[in-house]
Amino acid sequence: MTRHLITSAIPYINGIKHLGNLVGSQLPADLYARYLRARGNEVLFLCATDEHGTPAELAAAKAGKPVDEYCAEMHGVQARIAEGFGLSFDHFGRSSSAQNRKLTQAFAAALYEEGLIEEVEQRQIYSQTDGRFLPDRYVEGTCPNCGFEDARGDQCDNCTKQLDPEDLINPRSTVSGATDLETRETKHLFLKQSTMKDRLSDWIDSKTDWPVLTTSIAKKWLHDGDGLQDRGITRDLSWGVPVKRGDEDWPGMEGKVFYVWFDAPIEYIACAQEWVDAGKGSDWESWWRTDKGADDVRYTQFMGKDNVPFHTLSFPATIMGSNQPWKLVDYIKSFNYLTYDGGQFSTSRGRGVFMDQALEILPADTWRWWLLSHAPETSDAEFTWENFQASVNKDLADVLGNFISRITKFCRSKFSEAVPEAGEYGPAEHALIADLTERVARYETAMDAMEVRKSAAELRAIWAAGNEYLQAEAPWTTFKTDPDKAAAQVRLALNLIPLYAVLSAPFIPDAAQKMLTGMKVSDAGWPDDVPAALAQLAPGHVFEVPEVLFSKITDEQREEWAEKFAGKRT
Ligand code: MF3
Ligand code: ZN
Repeated sequence: MTRHLITSAIPYINGIKHLGNLVGSQLPADLYARYLRARGNEVLFLCATDEHGTPAELAAAKAGKPVDEYCAEMHGVQARIAEGFGLSFDHFGRSSSAQNRKLTQAFAAALYEEGLIEEVEQRQIYSQTDGRFLPDRYVEGTCPNCGFEDARGDQCDNCTKQLDPEDLINPRSTVSGATDLETRETKHLFLKQSTMKDRLSDWIDSKTDWPVLTTSIAKKWLHDGDGLQDRGITRDLSWGVPVKRGDEDWPGMEGKVFYVWFDAPIEYIACAQEWVDAGKGSDWESWWRTDKGADDVRYTQFMGKDNVPFHTLSFPATIMGSNQPWKLVDYIKSFNYLTYDGGQFSTSRGRGVFMDQALEILPADTWRWWLLSHAPETSDAEFTWENFQASVNKDLADVLGNFISRITKFCRSKFSEAVPEAGEYGPAEHALIADLTERVARYETAMDAMEVRKSAAELRAIWAAGNEYLQAEAPWTTFKTDPDKAAAQVRLALNLIPLYAVLSAPFIPDAAQKMLTGMKVSDAGWPDDVPAALAQLAPGHVFEVPEVLFSKITDEQREEWAEKFAGKRT
């Protein structure tokens, strides 16, 4: 038994995430957490909402709500949807929590004491009407390059030129529309991560078992061009963690907050505190402090590739730089992107399937299965409705679902709703047991390695092996000439069901539960010994034909949904 800490990149609070976001971090993290728990490990699986920063402020303004109220509400929405998808977080926290505020300020103090924070004087736009400094994105005006009138202070969306707010002609505040803007001197804090370059580089080089996607991105940022620059960690916003040095005010930093990417990963730690404070656990330090037992913990992070620089460099720089005994990540599993039907998912255009919509049309397990079995691991992957329909209808309905309903119904009609007693296993049965023993070992190897697609393929092959056995042995034919032999065949086939349930639960937890409920098994553990697991339903064990697990997706449904989620035309 090992203690496993697992975190998924914490989703931004603004808006509901699409399936591409889901498959890039939360879902594979859940797969791994469920698998490790099933194998008897102690798991702490954490996620949260990422609540600070400009996008949250803007989304709240758009919704016409105070930002704290907006975040509280959206946290509830995201938590409910996560539950709908069966994401088995031990705690779903909030980066705006009091715990994270305190911890973020404590990290800033530690980094300051280590001499790793520099105060930099900068010129910045100040709005007299708004009484505040404006972040670049809060200034709009006419692009000096192309004349576009709604260019943002950081970039022109029309000609894509990178801009400074001072470049804009007729600049105005997006907060109030005010034009009485001026440039003032102000101070910002920079984390001197460039001084940690060698340490970070050695650390990355030591991770020889990490996925290439992870290390290649990390190395690119470390060594290319102006990689690993000192990083500004403060912003002029009102929503965020106030800049303090521990409990003390930070002279010159009044009214400023930490940059969202500084406090967000610290929430991974704060979330463990929230978990304890919510009464769900008793000791967060043993998970996070190497002086309190966390050396025994294996820490795995899941994320999309755009998050890799922050997790391989910035957050480790925060941890290492603090010179305090915090746990560093042991393994980073990253993912490419999922595209949608020949293009990108688009939140603004409503293109693609979003998490709430997905649950409105089909059970979570169908999405979980498709997404995980097509996870964008070695390259980007594409969602198409044809592929989704084929995969659900074939893998889930024809192979798994059909196997279960066919054998249980056959048993009910020819014997009873109980495991038949007669007959002995012959060569075909022993061969199937041996075959499954090998296949289960291969499945475990793939799951241990977090090879998501390969694991799905091994699992599918395990389901198919049962079908092929039934097809070849055909108890419905055997029954006519040798009912005892048919009884033995049925006995073995019925025993595949709890085995399948346990193996499949990390992918399709709801269906797995229905399988166990139908078979009246309450204590199925992981099949460490496959032959023994295949004997767990003793002759005479009573069951009920499980309810239909998966219905097929019709061509009409497929067409309707393809149309519905194509996005409003721009
Ligand atoms: N909210 C970010 C995103 O969705 C991820 C933050 S991960 C953390 O891309 F490390 F900052 F927590
Ligand atoms: Zn322009």
